[in-house]
Amino acid sequence: MNKLSLLALAIFAAFGLLSLASNALQDDSVAIQEELRPAHIPVPADDGRPAMLEGWDSLDCAECHNQIASEWASTMHAMAWVDERYQEAIATKRRPQSCYGCHIPQPLNLRPLGGKPRPRGSDPEALDETPHNGISCLSCHLGPEGAMLGPYADTEATEAHTSKQGEAFGEGALADSLCINCHRSTVGPVIGIAKDFETTRQADKGLSCVGCHMPAIDRPAATVTNEDGTKRATAVRRGRLHSLQTPRDPYFLATAFGVEARRTSTGAELLITNQAGHRIPGLTTRSMTFTVTAIGAEGEATHVFDSTAYLPVDGTYTLAIESGAPPTSLQIHGTHSWTGVETPVVFLDQTLEL
Ligand code: HEC
Ligand code: HEC
Ligand code: HEC
Ligand code: HEC
Ligand code: HEC
Repeated sequence: MNKLSLLALAIFAAFGLLSLASNALQDDSVAIQEELRPAHIPVPADDGRPAMLEGWDSLDCAECHNQIASEWASTMHAMAWVDERYQEAIATKRRPQSCYGCHIPQPLNLRPLGGKPRPRGSDPEALDETPHNGISCLSCHLGPEGAMLGPYADTEATEAHTSKQGEAFGEGALADSLCINCHRSTVGPVIGIAKDFETTRQADKGLSCVGCHMPAIDRPAATVTNEDGTKRATAVRRGRLHSLQTPRDPYFLATAFGVEARRTSTGAELLITNQAGHRIPGLTTRSMTFTVTAIGAEGEATHVFDSTAYLPVDGTYTLAIESGAPPTSLQIHGTHSWTGVETPVVFLDQTLEL
């Protein structure tokens, strides 16, 4: 099977999985985002990373929040410490401790949000948690006095913990402040793309990090054990998919770009518009290549987006095709390269009529 049909298959499989849940995924408050980005279980291309964090099911939280824990375990948040790329990078650092704050953070909600995240320890080998659980449930949810902070004020009581509405959850002014806390800094291969989101006031347009990267889903938040030992699910309510939407999944990456074809006096042009809430890409190790071929005339053009020639937030890039005679349509091909993928991954293959 060639790469394209594999991609088509992956997209098909993902839609199949979701068709069960998708009816439940409407939300007026985030209608704009969901129209652009239907909720979707990520299918990242194979880049040598493990599919899930080993040992995730022995986490305390997994006993009752099994579904959420399994989603989290598939993210780079869960694997932020064990990630080989990260381990290789800190191996050559004189003060690797300076890197720990975002990769094994203490619970962020125990101090005012906005400060530098602090590491759980300066000697990771001494940490109890194996294999360190990266950005753990507690990093985002633990609040003062052992309470779990979340979007709801009225949650079912549990012996495991008390629950409180946290200001970093839900629709309040501090929504997204957890994400922004870590994603605002430019460090190593990472560009602080959350700064784009803040300075261009994307939140005023109704956009949010959580809205695009953790789509809404209606389901029980927990499974609990009754007094007689039987299990039952808690009531269905609006929560968020904990498997992060990632550019390593070609389906999600395609949603980053709006494409429009136009005729010009010397051929045609393709307008490529940024539909993410920040610049593209956000890592020095990533690039996206657009190749456009004229159909019905002679002509081809290529453009590469990378961290130096990035597509700015709210920006549009115009790719001109000089074909003399006007083409009848444009064939557009987009591929994505990053560390660990042997052949660039196709995320766009589309024909636009002129
Ligand atoms: C302020 C928070 C923060 C600190 C401190 C931090 N990182 Fe990261 N790191 C991130 C974020 C956020 C990402 C993910 C960015 C992405 O995927 O776009 C990341 C991802 C990475 C990756 C993976 C890149 C890839 O190709 O997937 C490496 C390697 C890395 N960091 C190395 C380091 C090193 C080395 C240090 C210390 C010098 C460090 N980090 C300190 C936030 C941080
Ligand atoms: C013994 C079962 C059990 C365990 C273990 C457990 N929880 Fe919960 N948790 C619940 C129940 C029940 C609810 C309430 C669900 C509801 O009302 O729909 C809940 C609610 C929550 C909420 C939502 C709070 C809100 O106000 O919106 C968060 C966040 C949470 N738990 C995180 C965690 C984390 C993190 C762990 C592991 C450290 C954990 N829980 C362990 C049973 C458990
Ligand atoms: C990077 C931060 C982050 C991490 C890590 C994280 N969560 Fe969440 N969690 C969130 C956000 C954001 C929401 C949704 C807030 C909203 O709805 O506005 C949420 C919502 C929840 C809820 C309430 C959902 C509902 O249906 O009521 C529970 C329960 C929960 N998380 C448990 C967990 C558990 C268990 C883990 C670890 C396996 C975990 N979370 C890891 C950020 C995180
Ligand atoms: C404690 C710091 C921290 C917080 C809080 C945090 N992130 Fe991350 N995030 C990271 C790091 C570190 C990585 C990359 C780990 C690696 O590649 O080794 C990452 C990776 C990611 C990725 C890339 C995933 C991939 O598969 O390539 C996305 C998307 C992301 N985060 C979105 C979010 C969103 C949305 C929130 C808020 C709900 C959030 N992050 C909160 C530190 C953080
Ligand atoms: C309108 C939807 C949208 C919003 C809002 C949004 N993102 Fe993204 N994000 C995307 C898309 C689409 C991509 C894939 C394109 C890319 O790689 O930049 C992406 C990529 C990323 C990546 C991976 C970047 C890389 O190249 O490794 C990270 C990390 C991330 N987003 C974090 C965030 C954070 C943090 C916020 C809030 C400050 C946020 N996003 C807001 C849609 C969004």
